[in-house]
Amino acid sequence: MKIGIESINFYTSNYFIDLKSLAEDRNIPVSKFYHGIGQEKMAAPPPDEDIITLAANAAYNATKSVDKDKIDTVIFATESGIDQSKSGGIYVHQLLQLGKNCRVFEVKQACYSAAAGIQMSLPYLMLHPDRKVLLVASDIARYGIGSVGEPTQGAGAVAMVLSARPAIVAFDMESGLYTEDVMDFWRPNYTDEAFVDGKFSIKMYIKALIESWNQYSGRSGREFADFYRFCYHLPFSRMGEKAHIHLAKHAVGDDYDNDFLMGQISDTLHYIKIIGNTYAASMYVGLISLLENSNEDLTGRRIGFFSYGSGCVGEFFSGEILPGYQKYIDSGAHTKLLNNRTELSYEKYKEFYSYSLPEDGGDYQTPKNETGLFRFAGISAHKRIYQRLF
Ligand code: CAA
Repeated sequence: MKIGIESINFYTSNYFIDLKSLAEDRNIPVSKFYHGIGQEKMAAPPPDEDIITLAANAAYNATKSVDKDKIDTVIFATESGIDQSKSGGIYVHQLLQLGKNCRVFEVKQACYSAAAGIQMSLPYLMLHPDRKVLLVASDIARYGIGSVGEPTQGAGAVAMVLSARPAIVAFDMESGLYTEDVMDFWRPNYTDEAFVDGKFSIKMYIKALIESWNQYSGRSGREFADFYRFCYHLPFSRMGEKAHIHLAKHAVGDDYDNDFLMGQISDTLHYIKIIGNTYAASMYVGLISLLENSNEDLTGRRIGFFSYGSGCVGEFFSGEILPGYQKYIDSGAHTKLLNNRTELSYEKYKEFYSYSLPEDGGDYQTPKNETGLFRFAGISAHKRIYQRLF
């Protein structure tokens, strides 16, 4: 029995800042961002857009042509949660008007949690092949104005329906794991901006990749040459390139030249370069980018996935692209979304970034901006209010 992705979609903010505006403000060459970290633009959500509206937009599109009555589990993966108790998934469940006989919960382990959602869904769907799981990963990456991490911010969500009737990717059952207690990136409850030891986080990412790969290849018997393309967690596009070169050197030494290796990941990087880090969603934004931008038919090709969540957990797993996948991807909608975004000045971006709701329990409405099909309308008696706009 094959278990995997039946449908998949992403959504990002309708607003972005070009990193040349950030470079101008810092008086540094923009090549540091465009080439040094490989990022050109980053999504900048307005006050009435949050991880729920991003997630609901992605999930609405991902569930449009599936039998929604069969969804009995919604898993919401995030590291920028809006409530310490209630799952963000319940708001999405309500906005999508899914059936009430459903379990909904949130998972967290930095950028890794959606991979846990996939791995936990595989045996569940094997046992219950008539059911479907809606997995949503949604995050807004915030490091702070003027911080070293600022050019690696971003925002977006990916939603996928997992089932025993996959149309896009069928996952292999083996995976390799790595966990170590480190402080490379974290966010205490009292702040909505992450703390990060940037260089150390890159080192830990690579270490977790190699360790996860070692266990994966030992368990599965598969070698580097068994993979056609690789999807990495992508906090910034150069991270994917660095990771892939390290893995190739570790797995096969100097057998492949740089151009060949970059060809194995370049199509995964298009969207991330102009959206930025979407934390838990980013590896799957890379997968969508690959599926929608590859000039080749990827049918039957094996893809390697490496998910990394600071703190840290890494997992290497794999899957095969299924025949006819092209019919089930939504490239037109994604291209339209990305092409129709509004560019913000650095000042306007700072205004969006700095908006914060009062915490006194009063009634407040957020200013209206473009947020797709759903919007975060405000707050009343400490309760968040969401609207369907159709
Ligand atoms: N032209 C071209 N390249 C230039 C340049 C210029 N003018 N100036 C500098 N560069 C290059 C540097 O040589 C360097 O290249 P290499 O990596 O190949 O050595 C690159 O630009 C980055 O420059 P710095 O080394 O000066 O790095 P920085 O101090 O600006 O920090 C960063 C970069 C560590 C990524 C920082 O933005 C950061 O901390 N980001 C957040 C943390 C992060 O994303 N970590 C990734 C792993 S953890 C993870 O994956 C989980 C997660 O999502 C957070």
